Amino acid sequence: MRIVIERGLPPVMIDRVQIQQVMINLIKNAAEAMEHSALRELTLEVCRASPDLLQVSVVDSGPGISEEVRDRLFKPFVSDKVHGMGMGLSICRGIVEAHGGRLWLEANPARGSIFRFTIPMDVGHGE
Ligand SMILES: Nc1ncnc2c1ncn2[C@@H]1O[C@H](COP(=O)(O)OP(=O)(O)O)[C@@H](O)[C@H]1O
Ligand SMILES: [Mg+2]
Repeated sequence: MRIVIERGLPPVMIDRVQIQQVMINLIKNAAEAMEHSALRELTLEVCRASPDLLQVSVVDSGPGISEEVRDRLFKPFVSDKVHGMGMGLSICRGIVEAHGGRLWLEANPARGSIFRFTIPMDVGHGE
């Protein structure tokens, strides 16, 4: 796994346990998606998307996500796994939105998927 973290990021106020759950689910999904891929590349990127927005990206080289699944992806009970609950992404989005951020899917131009989420950063407001 490749991890790229931008230098000099300001602190963020988060519920560590909840954001950890988001990370675990995204990484687990990526790993499971790449199970049968010849190329298994997982990249984690943390950067500043705008002055007060932290952005985390989980990039995989799996098969990607069909348009049909994409539309229902964040709904509960959508899973293509034998023991999958399909709750993961719907819970992840709920957690991120409760933090004031957003969670979305992008197609990986190389191949695979990119899940990104943002969290507002504590950069102070002029005091
Ligand atoms: N990185 C990914 N690559 C391909 N498909 C994915 C990826 N992440 C999620 N999916 C698809 O979205 C579905 C829902 O994911 P999730 O809500 O975490 O539930 P679960 O992991 O229990 O199936 C998965 O079953 C899979 O079909
Ligand atoms: Mg999952």
